[in-house]
Amino acid sequence: MSATLHTDALTPSDLFRADEVETSRLCLRMFRPEDLDAMCEITRDPEVMRYIGHGHPLKREETRQNLARIVAAFGRRGFGRWALELKETGELAGYCGLSLGNEEVGVELAYMLARGAWGRGLALEAGRASLRYGFERLDLSSIAGLTFQDNRRSRRVLERLGMSFVRAAHFYGFDCVHYAVARADWRDDGSLYRVKSER
Ligand SMILES: CC(C)(COP(=O)(O)OP(=O)(O)OC[C@H]1O[C@@H](n2cnc3c(N)ncnc32)[C@H](O)[C@@H]1OP(=O)(O)O)[C@@H](O)C(=O)NCCC(=O)NCCS
Repeated sequence: MSATLHTDALTPSDLFRADEVETSRLCLRMFRPEDLDAMCEITRDPEVMRYIGHGHPLKREETRQNLARIVAAFGRRGFGRWALELKETGELAGYCGLSLGNEEVGVELAYMLARGAWGRGLALEAGRASLRYGFERLDLSSIAGLTFQDNRRSRRVLERLGMSFVRAAHFYGFDCVHYAVARADWRDDGSLYRVKSER
């Protein structure tokens, strides 16, 4: 089956070109239609999906719709979740970036990595770059992180990024833990970070 995000059905503002960010091992870039196959491989893995939504692997059509939503959100807000491309191989490792799903929580850091990319510090690397972009380029005063209570890997990522536990809460119909970091408390760690602006 051919990979398509039906970009021809999107409005011109949806096709807005996002900034890209380069880190030591990653390129954070807008999703492209040809990412669909690789993204489907990631989202069909039950281990990856365990703490996402209802915890089920996704069908191809669900993943296609999610990617179309991610691309459209960039058009509406000017920021969103980037595709994570490994600089060394060009492979898609997952996504990371900033999303806005809940007014009470505000802008949130979101990430998902292929199982084979876990344990290498890539979520931290992409998360640091996303926070830096949010504070420096978007001038956000605070960025949140929401995860399921027992998603220990994700909680560790949020804590290592310098986020503090705010409270346990019920969001999007699930019991979650809410973390956040304020710009005043955030420190750039000096690692490679280059923004390629398309605007
Ligand atoms: C959450 C998720 C991104 C975390 O991935 P991860 O691989 O544990 O996180 P990192 O990429 O930051 O890697 C950190 C681990 O790599 C190790 N590591 C290896 N090289 C490293 C490096 N250069 N720098 C930092 N850590 C490194 C660390 O020791 C750490 O392992 P530890 O926590 O066991 O000590 C991943 O589990 C995932 O995608 N899960 C499914 C989707 C999901 O749940 N998303 C969150 C929804 S809220």
